[in-house]
Amino acid sequence: MARESANAPYLRNAWYVALFDDELEKGLLARTIMDEPIAFFRDASGKVCAIEDRCCHRGAALTDGKVIETGLQCGYHGLVFNGKGECVEIPGQDAIPPMAKVKYYPVVERHEIVWIWMGDPKLADESQIVDWPFHKGGATPLPHRKACMPIHANYLMMIDNLMDLTHLGYVHTKTIGGNPRAHVNAEMNTVRTERGCKYVRWMLDSVPPPTYVKGAGFKGKVDRWQEFEYVLPGLVLQWSGALELGKGARENRNQEGFHLRLFHAITPATENRSYYFWSTANGYRTDDPQATEDMYQEIYPTFVEDVDIMANQQARIDLDPHRPLLNIKADNALHHARRAFMAAYEAEQAMTRQAAE
Ligand code: FES
Ligand SMILES: [Fe+2]
Repeated sequence: MARESANAPYLRNAWYVALFDDELEKGLLARTIMDEPIAFFRDASGKVCAIEDRCCHRGAALTDGKVIETGLQCGYHGLVFNGKGECVEIPGQDAIPPMAKVKYYPVVERHEIVWIWMGDPKLADESQIVDWPFHKGGATPLPHRKACMPIHANYLMMIDNLMDLTHLGYVHTKTIGGNPRAHVNAEMNTVRTERGCKYVRWMLDSVPPPTYVKGAGFKGKVDRWQEFEYVLPGLVLQWSGALELGKGARENRNQEGFHLRLFHAITPATENRSYYFWSTANGYRTDDPQATEDMYQEIYPTFVEDVDIMANQQARIDLDPHRPLLNIKADNALHHARRAFMAAYEAEQAMTRQAAE
């Protein structure tokens, strides 16, 4: 059993969010994932490609080059690479030697999200990609806005954060926080799922927060919930909402009321740096673009508060990453998530050892 550290290791055979489609508007983007510099570009057919961002000639960054008809052209001496990382052109010579290639990564663009597979390409199974139906092209699209924030912390720190909402009343006092006790005492039930775990927190018969009143026009109290599903390694799917009292929210949440759908994806850049991708969908005033914008503007500073806490937390953890951390009752869902992650990690390690034998 690997010794548990706050800094989680990389799970390689999994799909990670590499970028949102609108980040590639200029056609070329550099991003480091799991310590590997990667060049993302759209080829002439519009397909997103991901190849190693290091030219095999003299090691220049391919993202210093440009996209041309035949692929990505190195900005130093003009070698051109296609989406499979194969060199297709060397200026001044006809023969292309076999070692003229760079690593490539399987990528899939689906519903505004570009996913990357960091493990063995032979194992890249597209059916494992999590569906987010609220984006364009999805089954139930909603108005939404999305963002990518760099985090100075290990990727699972953000999962810890999302799986323990008792921090709301302390970190987010200036934004969505509310009374710490209401959060600590919320009724909560965590269950393991095939690929992680999931919890629903119920705040029954409660006063709706101002955002909810503004969003759905509640006149009185509500039954409010927060559902968070962790899908390992780096995803959390959130459904926060509220219905007027008496509507039977616990039996059926799919009724008119307040519905906020949030997609959170965390991708490791290095051991203690990550990308935090999030997308917030407006499921309460779908015909009002200002409502979508207002929610985005409200959530953005909230997440900055988390990002700031985590940067200082990571700096402390890095001084002694294996020093044990204290467990308290509020960590229950977080531990379910960490255990699910570690089980998958151990399985991957065992598979790698087996393959090497
Ligand atoms: S370093 Fe890329 S072509 Fe020379
Ligand atoms: Fe937070």
